[in-house]
Amino acid sequence: MNIAIDGPAGAGKSTVAQRVARQLEYVYIDTGAMYRALAWAVLQKQLPISDENAVSELLKNNKIGLVRQAGQQRVFWNEIDVTDQIRSPEVSQSASIVASYGSVREQMLVLQRELAKQGNVVMDGRDIGTHVLPDAKVKIFLTASSRERAERRWRELREKGTETDLAELQKEIEERDRRDTQREVAPLRQADDAVLVDTTGMTIDQVVDHILQICERTGESA
Ligand code: DC
Repeated sequence: MNIAIDGPAGAGKSTVAQRVARQLEYVYIDTGAMYRALAWAVLQKQLPISDENAVSELLKNNKIGLVRQAGQQRVFWNEIDVTDQIRSPEVSQSASIVASYGSVREQMLVLQRELAKQGNVVMDGRDIGTHVLPDAKVKIFLTASSRERAERRWRELREKGTETDLAELQKEIEERDRRDTQREVAPLRQADDAVLVDTTGMTIDQVVDHILQICERTGESA
């Protein structure tokens, strides 16, 4: 049984998806990290990000790896571990730009379906329920208000010792939402058969429990 978790930036998808995967002993696959790795490489090589062809060729000629190490997912661009570097605000914005290119999404789709072939995966992203795994048994659309998503991100960064401006973070999140929902290819949207989970005011434990219940019900009815 595969599980698709989609939703806007900062809705807590990766934390929740990882916890659900751990509980069910499934494999967690973070597709956003793949777009981020590509964006990181574009920045690193100082390629013009507006050049779809160059970005797409870069992906074609290199390798993105998602590797489990000590219970954590690590992200590789060829042999380089980019796990930490791909979380910067600059990479976030660039990831949403490279993700708007059809020729990039086509390649990612193939890579992501290949990863899901092993079965029993929890995959999170923007288009998993609608495009990558349309047959996933469980589809969740995870969301929260942009204010709450910005607050969560602000707290997360503060815990890591980085002081940021909350209003600025909210603006960045809304900008990414706009780009992700309005792009022409595979825009962020709730699949018709996905369950909407609005996490505003919910704790992570509550969200995880809620999703596990949905999985249990689906498993029983399968
Ligand atoms: O989930 P994230 O913030 O790590 O994703 C980074 C960017 O990649 C995000 O702006 C949208 C894009 N993305 C996408 O278009 N499709 C996916 N399946 C996953 C991410």
